[in-house]
Amino acid sequence: MGSGGTLYRLNAESLSREGCTLKAAFKHLQKADVISLGGGLPLSEYFPFEAMEHGVLPLDNLNENKDASKGSIGLHSTKTDMVSGRSIYDLTVALNYSQGSGSAQLLRWITEHAELVHNPPYEDWQCNMTIGNTSALDMALRMFVQRGDYVLSDDYTFSSAVETALPMGARFLGVEMDTEGMLPQSLHDTLQNWDPAAHDGARKPFLLYSIPTGQNPTGATQSLQRRKDIYRVAQEHDLIILEDDPYYFLQMDRFYGDAKPSQFDAGSQSPESLLSMIIPSYLSMDTDGRVMRMDSFSKIVSPGLRLGWVTASQQLVERYKIHADVSTQGPSGFSQLALFKLLDEHWGHSGFFSWLLHLRQQYSHRRTFLVKACERHLPKDIVSWAVAEAGMFQWLKVDWRKHPDAASKSMTEIEEEIWFEGIGQGVLVARGSWFQATENKLYTDIFYRVTFAAAPLDKIEEAVVRFGEALRKIFKLQ
Ligand SMILES: Cc1ncc(COP(=O)(O)O)c(C=O)c1O
Repeated sequence: MGSGGTLYRLNAESLSREGCTLKAAFKHLQKADVISLGGGLPLSEYFPFEAMEHGVLPLDNLNENKDASKGSIGLHSTKTDMVSGRSIYDLTVALNYSQGSGSAQLLRWITEHAELVHNPPYEDWQCNMTIGNTSALDMALRMFVQRGDYVLSDDYTFSSAVETALPMGARFLGVEMDTEGMLPQSLHDTLQNWDPAAHDGARKPFLLYSIPTGQNPTGATQSLQRRKDIYRVAQEHDLIILEDDPYYFLQMDRFYGDAKPSQFDAGSQSPESLLSMIIPSYLSMDTDGRVMRMDSFSKIVSPGLRLGWVTASQQLVERYKIHADVSTQGPSGFSQLALFKLLDEHWGHSGFFSWLLHLRQQYSHRRTFLVKACERHLPKDIVSWAVAEAGMFQWLKVDWRKHPDAASKSMTEIEEEIWFEGIGQGVLVARGSWFQATENKLYTDIFYRVTFAAAPLDKIEEAVVRFGEALRKIFKLQ
């Protein structure tokens, strides 16, 4: 299959998009002496923002970033940086209308990054900026889904993804998983034995929604072999893989059982060494152009930027772009300019990798700290876990069959009882049942999702103590 081989999967909505007439006319502005009376772009003298200053953390001081004496580095933009030759991107351009793909300046940097990290093995791949993976998935599903369709996913998956698909008339169907995520054999069996009559007449699914790294909610990370096996099944059944991978760069050091932080040393560690520590993405093995990968700055720079990007074949990206032209119109100019200053003009690719190495070590430490707290404070005869290797979440399994009233209460009642007792004790965790992918399926285990990302370490310890107390009380272990 060539990289255009997925086009027959597009739905009527996507196929009928003809492009935005006004945005298409923009290209004639590249001609030097053209005066535009054509588009409603306000003059920048009517933008009340004259300059933008961002203080950013110095990369050589990340481990002691609370030391105010080392200060922050100021990144400065004005409206005239382009005409004066100080920069190739400024407030005048960033704060005006642009294309649904985002500004050419930041898009070039993002595309270079995608090449350095994923290097997709076919010619005509492209990137397009998004306003984050939430929106990217919404727009991607709207390219492919028809009412009545099923989307395949892990048995437990990101609840917002399921909720995005439902109003489009599409349901998720969970595939059996283990600690590495989806089982290739189960995926194959589901497809091989697909019977429309057993699924309200639905056609055989062709969309695979995957969170391969630090999966939300289970924390599962697919090994390289697992990814290769799933990709092979995708080839056999001609699937499109929607690779939702916001935690890709939160792959952590192996659990070393010692909660002492290892620190990133910008002086001694090559930033590019990061690339040899991370598991290759689906995009990087996508010889067929069947992967639509969604990256986000949310977890690695900040969520409020609302900025990410999709990478896929030129044909799919073009569909995405002409939708963006008439919907999001690309990410906020402030966000794009702030990122451009940081990534292109200040850090460069190497500096960004240094930052990501720093995050890797921070999250490794936080994960280890939380797991150690679980070992100390949770009743291990009823709670078990596989240590997360990426992402922000640890998944805890609770053996509800040991509940004193297990014979008379339902699993859901017990899940709820524990959850409310936790809130009563002062700890909020996420209930596993919120993440069940398949509607009306009998799930048989209780899980809770806890994060090591959101609280200071001493609060994490206290929260785990409280959750342990809640469990002991409910299971009458004290
Ligand atoms: C799997 C997954 N996809 C997408 C998102 C949202 O990402 P964004 O902030 O880029 O919209 C999250 C964050 O919670 C997530 O866990």
